[in-house]
Amino acid sequence: MPGNSFGTLFRITTWGESHGEAVGVVIDGCPPKIPIDESAVQDMLDRRKPGGSPASTSRKEPDKVIIMSGVFKGMTTGTPLSIMIRNRDADSESYKKYADIFRPGQGDITYHAKYGIRDWRGGGRASARETVARVAAGAVAKALLGREKITVCAYTIELGGIKAEVRDHDAVSGNMFFCPDMKAALKMEKRVNDVKKKGDSLGGIVEITAKGVPAGLGEPVFDKLDADLAKGLMSIGAVKGVEIGAGFKAATLLGSENNDPITGEGFLTNNSGGILAGISNGDDIVIRVAVKPIPSIAIEQKTIDVTGKERTVSVKGRHDISAIPRINVVCEAMVSIVLADHMLRQRAVGR
Ligand SMILES: Cc1cc2nc3c(=O)[nH]c(=O)nc-3n(C[C@H](O)[C@H](O)[C@H](O)COP(=O)(O)O)c2cc1C
Repeated sequence: MPGNSFGTLFRITTWGESHGEAVGVVIDGCPPKIPIDESAVQDMLDRRKPGGSPASTSRKEPDKVIIMSGVFKGMTTGTPLSIMIRNRDADSESYKKYADIFRPGQGDITYHAKYGIRDWRGGGRASARETVARVAAGAVAKALLGREKITVCAYTIELGGIKAEVRDHDAVSGNMFFCPDMKAALKMEKRVNDVKKKGDSLGGIVEITAKGVPAGLGEPVFDKLDADLAKGLMSIGAVKGVEIGAGFKAATLLGSENNDPITGEGFLTNNSGGILAGISNGDDIVIRVAVKPIPSIAIEQKTIDVTGKERTVSVKGRHDISAIPRINVVCEAMVSIVLADHMLRQRAVGR
């Protein structure tokens, strides 16, 4: 199945299904002598684990990382890194009742149309379980970026219609939704609990900021930095929109409002989100992603089975109420992977 690899010089290939033996990633092109150990990867994976908020599933996923190759005495060797995470808390039995019907909002109907066969256990390859592998690769990318003092941080700015009104970055690690507004985080908790009782689910918006990115990353014309960021982020399940800088709001502004004036000290505003003509301009890179509500809901909905017969389905079980906040670290990982790739590509330009 092609389409499982991403990146040009820092290239990742993820593998595995939700209820298979394990999931993992092969990273090819990571330069040698990058300090990396299992605990750095584990720390990032722990941020994706369920259990931190009422919006998350009750599944227990220990997600113990195993680095199988490419690291020697805590340093990358320049050879392919292979990282594996075993699947532990998979309850395939509970998926049997959905084996011959299509759950609305899921990839069941499209995988069936494409392959004529699908691993219905936990969503198979379409499952968010695959994102474990991206987060592991993101930890390696972050270590690479860390050498250049580039940082990437994702936080929740909207959940179930509750918006963060302030950006207090010290607050992000102080609440279960990774929200930069403590008051909004409290309202989010109430909203999640109310919706959970009704058997429904919620969507929201995650913002990602990359700081310290030098000017010059990004390639004309199809591999623009914003194009690759959008592709990387849109490849995460449940992400339905990506905007950079002013994004959709730019469509309502005048040119005189949207342009970022340039002074000897730098840009006066950052409507560009740190990218001009597909190339980083040295300012912070600011991206927002729209996350749809979790499709698995207990509320009964119309569907059809594999023979086309009309049925109804209510998806009960251990599901997230919202992909937020577990998706935040996945977004952070994908942005880090894209930046690491473009950093290596800019080195190849040799300027
Ligand atoms: C971190 C994360 C957790 C998710 N958790 C669930 C879940 O528990 N149940 C579910 O049905 N979908 C979950 N999803 C969403 C589905 O994977 C996704 O909506 C589905 O594969 C269909 O793909 P699409 O939304 O991109 O069209 C999650 C997604 C992410 C990124």
